[in-house]
Amino acid sequence: MTCKVRFVNYPRQYRLLKTEFDAVFEEIMSGGDFILRRHLELFESNIAAYVGCKHAIGVNTGTDALYLSAHALGFGAGDEIITVGHTFVATIGAIVQCGATPVLVDIRDDFNIDVEQIESAITEKTKGIIPVHLNGHACQMDQIMTLAKKYHLRVIEDAAQALGATFKGKRCASFGDTAIFSFYPAKMLGTAGDGGMVCTNDDQLARKLKALRDNGRVDSVEEIECYGYCSRLDNLHAALLDMKFKYFDTWVERRREIAERYDKAFSDIPGLIPHPKSSKDYFDVYQNYVLRSSKRDELVAYLRQSGVEVLVSWPTPLHKQKALHLDHFKLPKTEQISKEVLSLPMYPELTNEEVDYVLDVVKALAP
Ligand SMILES: Cc1ncc(COP(=O)(O)O)c(C=O)c1O
Repeated sequence: MTCKVRFVNYPRQYRLLKTEFDAVFEEIMSGGDFILRRHLELFESNIAAYVGCKHAIGVNTGTDALYLSAHALGFGAGDEIITVGHTFVATIGAIVQCGATPVLVDIRDDFNIDVEQIESAITEKTKGIIPVHLNGHACQMDQIMTLAKKYHLRVIEDAAQALGATFKGKRCASFGDTAIFSFYPAKMLGTAGDGGMVCTNDDQLARKLKALRDNGRVDSVEEIECYGYCSRLDNLHAALLDMKFKYFDTWVERRREIAERYDKAFSDIPGLIPHPKSSKDYFDVYQNYVLRSSKRDELVAYLRQSGVEVLVSWPTPLHKQKALHLDHFKLPKTEQISKEVLSLPMYPELTNEEVDYVLDVVKALAP
């Protein structure tokens, strides 16, 4: 069966915005502005204004944004950092790469950290928390920040999947000491390659992060402030992202419309749990639409045979990945969810006919 509905359709977006994509390429190539130039600064200030934070610093990837944040906050050997097992490996990788120890707590049915379990995971060694706003849905940031204050912990928000999402009226990435975004192509705001960003309200952290991303240099190429890395968001990517950013809020609305269509169709099908519904405290942006099914593997196989691309994130929970040595954590909800979830196609260019086709395929397998 040929593919009928792609999981993400990059060429379709390019065709729709071809004139603008091509104009960006023409402008950057003819100007020769590639590294740490005006387009990057403009994009950084647009993201900072949108999120409601003081600084936004463009880096190479979301992964680097996490690692550089952990480094800038001084996480290191002997420190314990609390996060979840139901996330992309980079969240935990950043903790391990800077020499600290990950402490994993379980999630709730909304796929995010169970805030009720954080306090019992805090020890004298705990130095930070990395809440992950998964699938475009915010964590309960009021309770997390209250705990962080009480125990003097630093917070890195992993907002790789949550640009535009809010909790109690405040945007994700405006709560923590730092927060990160990913501009990986499949992300809601994705570039033609890799890209990432760190947000912070702290001037000193911002300076440190700028130094870390550019081999220790901030104001001058001659003065080195520290050993650093080479992890800059390229000007060409920044310009592409800034062009696409104009459409971002419209794209979020379209994602929410598609989610509603999926929700309506799945609400009364036995054995299926539609993507979790949020209370009025949340504005969800649907990086992913996640369906749960007790017969997940059968449903995934049937969707694929019917030409619908789907993604399973993540069939083996990270604490069960042998190479990561995290098997000592007991995370029953994470394990249950890893057996049940699948993500359906979800992007603004998806047509209603394609959504209806996905719905028909899912319904055809329903009892
Ligand atoms: C939750 C989460 N954190 C971190 C990352 C890492 O971002 P990147 O792929 O840009 O390195 C991702 C990307 O998949 C992610 O989904």
